[in-house]
Amino acid sequence: MTDAAVVVDGLTKRFGADLAVDDVSFEVPAGRVVGFLGPNGAGKSTTLRAIVGLTAPTAGGATILGRDVRDLDDPIRTVGSIVDGVGFHPGRRAIDELRICGAAGGLPSARCDEVLELVGLAQVGRKRVGTYSFGMKQRLGLAAAMLGDPQVLLLDEPANGLDPEGIQWVRGFLRHLADEGRPVGG
Ligand SMILES: Nc1ncnc2c1ncn2[C@@H]1O[C@H](COP(=O)(O)OP(=O)(O)O)[C@@H](O)[C@H]1O
Ligand SMILES: [Mg+2]
Repeated sequence: MTDAAVVVDGLTKRFGADLAVDDVSFEVPAGRVVGFLGPNGAGKSTTLRAIVGLTAPTAGGATILGRDVRDLDDPIRTVGSIVDGVGFHPGRRAIDELRICGAAGGLPSARCDEVLELVGLAQVGRKRVGTYSFGMKQRLGLAAAMLGDPQVLLLDEPANGLDPEGIQWVRGFLRHLADEGRPVGG
């Protein structure tokens, strides 16, 4: 048994003949911001998708706090994520997107306003997501990831599309979370 927050063990993923992830193993300790780096197409997003159960590994697997993501007792309070290709409905208001996620996880509606505030979207939370800039959508993704005040955060390119002030803000934000003992991988 390990006290690592995330353990990836021999993870392999093939798409037909294409070997996207080749026997990858690593551990993310608690309280650390861990950068997951590699060129485009290296398999980073596929690895993160496998950790959160959005893609089935060809071999190997991953655990979050010692469990397969499907076996977590309270997933929304355990792991929050921004994952490539999982978006918001452009016709819905940002606050309503959060309310849907929050309700599914059994969270009070007030928490949705809190996370909007946290990511600097409080003033525009009633606007439809389709009117958001790319950077605002990134912030909304982070708000959704933070809904359950999760112990582990997995963020795929969280600073993508943010302006320089936003990049500085997201780095400070993640540093602050890690200082609270929360592991962050992205
Ligand atoms: N759903 C998919 N179907 C087929 N091939 C995929 C799929 N998702 C990713 N791939 C392939 O897997 C490889 C790794 O992609 P990805 O994990 O997105 O890399 P990264 O996030 O590091 O840029 C790429 O060659 C990509 O084309
Ligand atoms: Mg990627």
